[in-house]
Amino acid sequence: MHPDLANREIILGVTGSIAAYKACEIASRLTEAGATVRAALTQSAQEFVGAVSFEGITGNCVITSMFDPGLNPEIEHIALAKRASAFLIAPATANIIAKMAHGLADDWLSTTLLATRAPIVIAPAMNTQMYTHVATQENIATLKARGCIFVGPDAGQLACGDVGAGRLIETPAILEALVCALHVDKPLRGKKVLITSGGNHEPIDPVRFIGNRSSGKMGHALALEALRLGAEVTVVTGPHRVPLPHGVETVEVETAHEMLEAVEAHFEDCAVFIGAAAVADYRVERPALDKHKHSDAMLTLSLVPNPDIAASVSLRKRPDQITVGFAAETSHITEHAQDKLKRKHLDLIVANEVGVAESGFGTDTDRAWLIKANEAVVDLGLLAKTELAQAVFSALALNGTGSLKA
Ligand code: CTP
Repeated sequence: MHPDLANREIILGVTGSIAAYKACEIASRLTEAGATVRAALTQSAQEFVGAVSFEGITGNCVITSMFDPGLNPEIEHIALAKRASAFLIAPATANIIAKMAHGLADDWLSTTLLATRAPIVIAPAMNTQMYTHVATQENIATLKARGCIFVGPDAGQLACGDVGAGRLIETPAILEALVCALHVDKPLRGKKVLITSGGNHEPIDPVRFIGNRSSGKMGHALALEALRLGAEVTVVTGPHRVPLPHGVETVEVETAHEMLEAVEAHFEDCAVFIGAAAVADYRVERPALDKHKHSDAMLTLSLVPNPDIAASVSLRKRPDQITVGFAAETSHITEHAQDKLKRKHLDLIVANEVGVAESGFGTDTDRAWLIKANEAVVDLGLLAKTELAQAVFSALALNGTGSLKA
């Protein structure tokens, strides 16, 4: 879990939706991450889920009414409005969204939301017709313009039987949005970050391909960190196992050629390009149009090299653009990485050890080094991919004016 949540006081506003029970899991994840969680249940939320559950999960008393007998000064609404690190409304009904948009204050949650200046994250959950209604959409637009962060909803089968947008988005996406909201320093605001992620599938015939073990975890961590720093993030991703963070523009591709095409289409606008994809070095020269039939004869595939995406964009970058690459190595790690840094005209390369238990494809940690031209190699040791993503952006020397210097 992200360290940003530790020692933060999060007000979890739960409103009257069938998805209210899912807020228990959210409270649980936040508590595990070291946050102090104060759950505030509206009157209608209490029809769906019990305050006692939240009290048990968070270890804190639950706010159920503006005028609870014995409401102590610590959770008095103005005190909490001032002290909270962030508010998370999950699930958020059309009603609370409308009340917030219009400044209504008729219960503890709406009153406290009006009194706070802390970041607010809203995870809507409601019937699709209610969600797509122009009134709700206008209210959402109003709140977004005031800086509220919306996450979700997901589309799918709803409790009422309808199919469409309105399901409460999954907990990990909600927590990621909260992590982004908590990071108030946004040195990349107004900047675009372009990331390649995942692996490639190079077709052999209509049903078979050559692939690799890339999970997309590093691309995910980099995208989340870029969002946290306020960037607009585009991820061009090949096949991957880990979903990308909510709020990222995602371009799904399969082959290295498709990846190059998508990267070229987005490169012009970006301030930072990061090649985190495990790009397929080769493709089948002529993929078969029909499925290969089984036979006892040997099958030889003729492979031709793929274009080098990181090198190709680095050659045409402007002085205000930065390109970053990864070097996945099994031996002579920093030497090979230094060679790639030069050969691909990158500003920064992350060397990482692959093929060992705790580092490389599919792991949550990496053994990594940061290398810039003419500078001493920085040995980062073994660290979480999320920490590595932070180290990469710190190495780009972001400053308050939003300018970047690799
Ligand atoms: N890369 C790329 N296009 C390729 C190959 C690699 O953009 N066709 C990028 C990767 O995303 C990574 C960097 O280049 O940022 C280095 O990738 P890596 O696989 O370590 O290096 P290769 O150039 O493929 O060299 P080798 O496989 O021989 O180690």
